Amino acid sequence: MNYYYIETFGCQMNVHESEKLAGILESRGLTAVSGASRADVIVFNTCCIRDTAEKKIEGNIGELKALKRSRPDLIIVISGCMTQQAGRAEALKKRFPFIDIILGTNNQYELGEKIDALLKAGKKIISIDNADKPAISEEVPVFRTSFPNAWINIMYGCNNFCTYCIVPYVRGRERSRDPERIISEIRSAVNEGYKEITLLGQNVDSYGSDLDSGMNFYKLLQKIAEIDGKFRVRFMTSHPKDLSEEVIKLISEHPNFCKNIHLPVQSGSNAVLKKMNRKYSRERYLELIGYIRKYMPEAGITTDIMVGFPGETDADFADTMDLVEKVRFQNAFTFVYSPRNGTPAAAMEQIPADIKKSRITRLVALQNSISDEISLDYLGKTYEILIEDEEGGICAGRTDSGRLVRFPGDKEDIGKFVNVKITKNKASSLYGEKV
Ligand code: SAH
Ligand code: SF4
Ligand code: F3S
Repeated sequence: MNYYYIETFGCQMNVHESEKLAGILESRGLTAVSGASRADVIVFNTCCIRDTAEKKIEGNIGELKALKRSRPDLIIVISGCMTQQAGRAEALKKRFPFIDIILGTNNQYELGEKIDALLKAGKKIISIDNADKPAISEEVPVFRTSFPNAWINIMYGCNNFCTYCIVPYVRGRERSRDPERIISEIRSAVNEGYKEITLLGQNVDSYGSDLDSGMNFYKLLQKIAEIDGKFRVRFMTSHPKDLSEEVIKLISEHPNFCKNIHLPVQSGSNAVLKKMNRKYSRERYLELIGYIRKYMPEAGITTDIMVGFPGETDADFADTMDLVEKVRFQNAFTFVYSPRNGTPAAAMEQIPADIKKSRITRLVALQNSISDEISLDYLGKTYEILIEDEEGGICAGRTDSGRLVRFPGDKEDIGKFVNVKITKNKASSLYGEKV
């Protein structure tokens, strides 16, 4: 056993968890390869947020069948959110009998021991911890793959039960990490040369509510602000029901905190927000946007929006379009509502597919035109960019506000801060030159 291949689907949470799966395999002497065909161990870290994600993953798993037939020693591991759905692991095993190990989101730390058990007994393994609050496994080695960014969990799980969402069912209840562990992980990453720290949680603003110490997100940010060094801090995701003016002000006051807020709105209609169980109104949402603009006029604000939620009327959709025009998001991730088994919204009366399609098309067109107008504001100005990537002599990096900019540069520059003057806006991408 020499090589492993991990394919990651879904959100940043999964991207980081794949770094932990990689850490386990690296600590056993395996090395990553860039394609499944050469690997001895293949791990799929899955997502089930929408039907499209699941279909794609099932297709990809199906493609492994031939590989397994030609190399029976190959070890195939399926992990992540998909495996945690009720009855899903058994169904996967039945449909894809060539899978060797199925590991739930809270069982990933077992990867090494389960591989040993498989080799010893030759029997397929399913290991899923369905507890409401599974223990946080702190001792897993992390093999980081996103330099200069280091992902750092501050919490796991979700308590919110938005009626469309599968996450609380596959990730359990909120568990906050010990603040000292978070701070020491940030310090180590900064000492190792990481220049960007992204704090991860389904709802970072409720950090600490399950701890006895009176800790909260505001106090955690205060502690992070005390860490010396030049590095950027981002976090996701903020929930409009919990984000406070205090936190927004604190972010505005410290140079290390990026002026970039991802604040999913989902819908601009109060009736729909209520049915979604989001626990805020469009008025409160717009008030929060007001605070962000007041304290950080330059901030990049991004969001997630869904169309076609059960019962969404033309008037509800018009409210969403209106909110998008009022806020003027820098960028929006737009989704068509997808019914998820076992969630309350899946049992509500659904909207016809053609209406969903026409709404998403109109929403995307509106947001694209706004994003393009905002891009024009960047032209001719100079921004500090953290270089994240390089390909064929072109570097890519972000402004503090989260905009991606491309400009000529070298691979050695990855991880450096440089000043770049924006010279061109083409197909929603910004281009510039180092100054
Ligand atoms: N915890 C974060 C995001 C979780 S999922 C939050 O609360 O905002 C990321 C995005 O996927 C959500 O913001 C939502 O817009 C979208 N999403 C979640 N469930 C969905 C579903 N059933 N159909 C379509 N989009 C969905
Ligand atoms: Fe899903 Fe809502 Fe939790 Fe986000 S806050 S993960 S959308 S239930
Ligand atoms: Fe993330 Fe998908 Fe799970 S969005 S939390 S990987 S269901």
